[in-house]
Amino acid sequence: MSDRHRLFLALWPDQETRAQLAAAAERWTQRPVPGANLHMTLAFLGSCDLDQWRCIDESVSTIISQPFEINIDYLGTWPRSKTQWLGTSCAPEALGELVEALGSALLGCDFQPGRQRFVPHVTLSRKEQHLRTQAGLDVIHWPVDEFVLAESLPATGGVRYVVHKRWPLSGRG
Ligand code: 2AM
Repeated sequence: MSDRHRLFLALWPDQETRAQLAAAAERWTQRPVPGANLHMTLAFLGSCDLDQWRCIDESVSTIISQPFEINIDYLGTWPRSKTQWLGTSCAPEALGELVEALGSALLGCDFQPGRQRFVPHVTLSRKEQHLRTQAGLDVIHWPVDEFVLAESLPATGGVRYVVHKRWPLSGRG
């Protein structure tokens, strides 16, 4: 087993939300990512050694946040990478606060802070030929009551993700 791991913190949809996101991926894209891979990245950590992994684990365990709901209602694109994604026209404040809190918690773990603005999104498809942007989709109500630490691993024809740990959003904070 390699001692470096490609890690990220994410929201992992419950089964029902995942089924709805997967249906949207089938509907809106030609090359949908596997349904099991659908997620929303909160913080991308990249290649981490075991000391960083331990630090991430300890640091984010201190976070206290409220559960919230994301109304997924927007189809967006990143033309350069030909990425088609689902997002929201109205991100809940608690989501932004959670991302901020994660960023602050990780400051002691020797990561470069991300330079890009956080855009909440679920990647539906990469290298998509026919990209489209559309607002006002039928809303997918995504109830969020935890975040996870996941690892990206190479797999035949793409990647697979392993969820290593889950932290509940306690409702206190
Ligand atoms: P994406 O869905 O927009 O491609 C696992 O690879 C997760 O981390 C994916 O959700 C991916 O986002 C995100 N990710 C991969 N590389 C990244 C990078 N360099 N910066 C930010 N996020 C990244």
